[in-house]
Amino acid sequence: MYKSRITGCGHFLPERIVKNSDLLEFMETSDEWIQERTGIEERRWIDPASGETTSTMGAKAAERAIAHAGLTKEDIDFIIFATLSPDMYFPGGGVRVQDILGMSTIGALDVRNQCSGFVYALSVADQFIKTGMYKNILVIGSENHSGGLEKSTRGRGVTVIFGDGAGAVVLSRSDDETRGLLSTHLHSEGAHAAQLSLLSPSTGRWVDEIMKDNDPDDISYYPYMNGQFVFKHAVVRFSEVINEALAVNNLTSSDIDLLIPHQANLRIAQFIQKKFGLTDDQVYNNIMRYGNTTAASIPIALSEAVDEGRVKQGDLVVMAAFGSGFTWASALFKW
Ligand code: ACO
Repeated sequence: MYKSRITGCGHFLPERIVKNSDLLEFMETSDEWIQERTGIEERRWIDPASGETTSTMGAKAAERAIAHAGLTKEDIDFIIFATLSPDMYFPGGGVRVQDILGMSTIGALDVRNQCSGFVYALSVADQFIKTGMYKNILVIGSENHSGGLEKSTRGRGVTVIFGDGAGAVVLSRSDDETRGLLSTHLHSEGAHAAQLSLLSPSTGRWVDEIMKDNDPDDISYYPYMNGQFVFKHAVVRFSEVINEALAVNNLTSSDIDLLIPHQANLRIAQFIQKKFGLTDDQVYNNIMRYGNTTAASIPIALSEAVDEGRVKQGDLVVMAAFGSGFTWASALFKW
């Protein structure tokens, strides 16, 4: 079996900054409420005039990751694209990136696992590398939330949280036995699917049904989140899946150099930090600046952490995510 290692990282964020106070234009909320509950100060939302999409952002992050790895797009064997907000209902974003970057007709796979989508995608990539099928795989997480959020007081419980952006890595076959991906851990509990979901349009409720019913209270085409229910499950599952990764590798929390949690809510990250006895330097958070970018949050955070010198060769890095599905996952690396 081969070993895999992240050889390049990149991220892309839309230029438009939306501060908490900017949201007052279309909803009743306050900077104080948002910061107290979530830690978010501002987020990036695509300027509709820019023409930016989930795929174009993903492609930009991918180009940066390929360059950072010292590779060219011809070196990439496969694309895995994680998002809950693809440009089209179908096909997915992976094929769009293949086209935008003018890559050869390599395979492209989409992963639909929302907040844990990137860790799931990384795990899939790792299996392809381990078996020897591919040498360099582009793993992308990208989201355009802003276009699909309800920008009114009714939607504020969800809308204030989410932001747009993209992150990407290149996962490569590695000969270095001392570094690389140690393990990944994937879980789901579909019984809670409806607690964090977007119900339509789907085969369960198509656009013509919504239009026929003409019910002004039907907001099934906006994301729904039972916030407190999600929060309670998140803190438990984050802890479990980090512990699982440590136990499988005979490590303890004192071995962690950097934890990169999915940026769901700063309060969740702080709870986990305290539970594992980690210092501020051992946890990377950027939700204050970008909000929750779902599948993009971990690769954006990793890319920034690398740029800032927060990850050094030999460091033990843990990624952990929880979200819609419910799904949750972790990945452990020796950097
Ligand atoms: N501004 C002002 N008031 C608001 C806002 C807002 N933006 N949103 C809700 N409120 C009000 C509500 O109307 C409610 O008022 P009421 O008491 O008069 O009825 C009150 O604030 C409390 O609302 P809650 O929804 O109970 O607020 P809560 O404390 O649960 O915080 C939050 C909400 C921040 C969403 C929190 O529950 C949370 O972070 N949950 C976890 C989110 C998460 O981890 N998601 C997973 C990843 S996302 C993914 O997978 C796609």
